[in-house]
Amino acid sequence: MRKDFAPEKFNFEKGLDGMSAKMLAEHVKLYEGYVKKTNEIQLKLETADKSEANGVFSYIGELKRQETFAVNGMKLHEVYFGHLGGDGKPKGDLVKMIERDFGSLDVWKVDMIATGIAARGWGVLAYDYKDKKLHNYGADAHNVGAVWGAIPLVVLDVYEHAYFMDYGVNRKDYINSFFKNLNWDFANKIIKEYGLK
Ligand SMILES: [Fe+2]
Repeated sequence: MRKDFAPEKFNFEKGLDGMSAKMLAEHVKLYEGYVKKTNEIQLKLETADKSEANGVFSYIGELKRQETFAVNGMKLHEVYFGHLGGDGKPKGDLVKMIERDFGSLDVWKVDMIATGIAARGWGVLAYDYKDKKLHNYGADAHNVGAVWGAIPLVVLDVYEHAYFMDYGVNRKDYINSFFKNLNWDFANKIIKEYGLK
């Protein structure tokens, strides 16, 4: 049986280094909207008329299309907010895996920043089960560029809503502040949880 998702709670009342409390509070509201819409879409899917499915337009087609947008919007923000609030110091298994798959932390970071500048939605460091290696994947929207069979470990939101209030068009400075606030233990916990090697 279907069960509603509950939005996770995040405490950004004092803001973060380089990210205002106001900007983060507004951003969390967007995330909560994705959770709400995920629940609404999945509820409506239970009773939607499957017999009218059509590739040009149908109600069930739109529900299916927007479900991936809402679900990915929910999941990606949960990692993003989940690992903000740290001291930015690289540590643990993730460091070893990055060094193994990218050569060094610096090489990875340069590529991750470029991914974040080039993408229109997300830069995602993910462990891909296909080759059992880490990749920096770029996504132009929550459901455009998502790679299946890959576990997101570091999730950088580069939608304008993530930084415009504090940074205007200066996305690069926002990305630097993202790294300063990154809690590496959060990613290390995901690595342990899934037993990634
Ligand atoms: Fe966002």
